[in-house]
Parts: sequence; structure tokens; C-alpha cells
Amino acid sequence: MREINNIVILTGAGISAESGVATFRGPDGLWEGHRVEDVATPEAFARDPDLVQKFYDERREKLAGVAPNAAHRALAKLDRLWSGELLLVTQNVDDLHDRAGSERLVHMHGELRSAWCSRCGERSKFEGKLAFDPACPRCDEFGGLRPDIVWFGEMPYHMDKIEAALARCDLFVSIGTSGAVYPAAGFVRTAGHYGARTLEMNLDPSEGSIYFNESQMGKAGELVPAWVEGLLKT
Ligand code: OAD
Repeated sequence: MREINNIVILTGAGISAESGVATFRGPDGLWEGHRVEDVATPEAFARDPDLVQKFYDERREKLAGVAPNAAHRALAKLDRLWSGELLLVTQNVDDLHDRAGSERLVHMHGELRSAWCSRCGERSKFEGKLAFDPACPRCDEFGGLRPDIVWFGEMPYHMDKIEAALARCDLFVSIGTSGAVYPAAGFVRTAGHYGARTLEMNLDPSEGSIYFNESQMGKAGELVPAWVEGLLKT
């Protein structure tokens, strides 16, 4: 088996579930009472900006009441101690990986604690409520800020960096994602195509489960720390 130097880790909503952040595709198929399409598309924002702004304002406000769990902390420890290349790609818009201390991290679907101004095109760190229509901290214009979230039909962030890392990695690990949303759902096949070993950790088999060399089913808060400790001993 190929020696492991370079690692890419993809995380989804399941890694934050034990911190109390709702996953997207709950048993009722709704995300906090809404169809994903009604709050996560540019069309939804054009149709009802107030509903969409309030929805993400509530999610942003809730971040103050949640904390990183054992899985976020274990990945931050791996980032600190792993001397090879490592890239943590999260689909999550919460900031729990950041708060746990992960540094080699990209948020491919944007961040709740960031706002994007359509007037000046700049992104800024943001706390508070976008529904109050605050001025952009960069250009001082009102009426231009939207959540810095990648909605359906928009291009995820950092794709060049992610694809380069997938082509170089020896191990690709996917944690807590249903594998329902592309391009992230296709990363396992890209990494596998370049010869990486692939491992999935999820509560139940994801839609792309068959593409992984190994699947571990269970809670991220238990599986991830055990996997990290094992890897650091090799
Ligand atoms: P989903 O809600 O689709 O999937 C979460 C997965 O985590 C499910 O397969 C659960 O079984 C699993 N899970 C739940 N609790 C877990 C636990 N404690 N430990 C391990 N696994 C657990 O969330 P994502 O796959 O992240 O995009 O969704 C992908 C994208 O869809 C999101 O980034 C979002 C959404 O539309 C945007 O907002 C652009």
C-alpha cells in the first residue's frame, strides 16, 4: 500500500451534529423547517430576500451557543502534528473547525460569519443581522450585503486548490456528509482516480459509499478521534 504523506479531508454537516448544529437533510427532508431550495438559491433570495436574510441571521446567531466537539478537535490536532501535506475542506458554513484550531482549512460553501457585498464585490467578516440592512464595512453602501454562502447554482470556493490537493493526496477521508451535493460528492472518485486510498466515516452509508475503499459507520465524535490517534502512531 502507498505510504501516506498527503491527506485531504472533506467534512459535512454530520461532523457538527454532535455540537448541536442541525444537518441539512434531516429525517423530514427539511433544513430547520425549510426546503433547502427555498433558502439556498439565488432565485429564493431574489424572490424573498427578507426570509433568506432572516434564515441565515438565525443560523449565525446560533453559532454563539455551540462549540467544537471531539471530532473537530481531533482534526485540529492532526493539522498541528501532521508533517505531510494536509487540506481540510469543509462544506460547513459554521466556524467550528476554525474555533477548534484547524489552519489548513477551506470553506468551500462559504461562511455564516462572512458577508458579501454586491456593490463593491468584497467579502468581510460579519457578526449581527443582515436583515437590518447594515452598510458594507468596505464601501459603506447600504443594500448590497448578502450571506457569503454558496447557493445551489453558484460556484463553490477554492476549487483550484482543492482539485490540486486531490490529485496529490495519498489518502482521502470523507466525514459526516450525505454525498448528495456536487462537486464535493465527486471528490472520492477524483482522489481514487489519482490512486489515493479512500475512507468514509458517517452515521449511515452516504450516496457515494460504494466508491470508498473503506467505510466506518458511527458517530464522528467517536470515530474521528480514534482514527486520528491511529494515524499519528503510524
Ligand atoms: P447532509 O445533511 O446532507 O448530510 C449529513 C450526513 O451526516 C448524513 O449522511 C448523516 O447520516 C450524517 N451524520 C449525522 N450525524 C452524524 C454524526 N454524529 N456523525 C457522523 N455522521 C453523521 O449534509 P451535507 O452532506 O454536509 O450546501 O450537505 C452538503 C451540502 O448540502 C451542504 O454544504 C449545504 C447543503 O445544501 C450549501 O449550503 C451550499
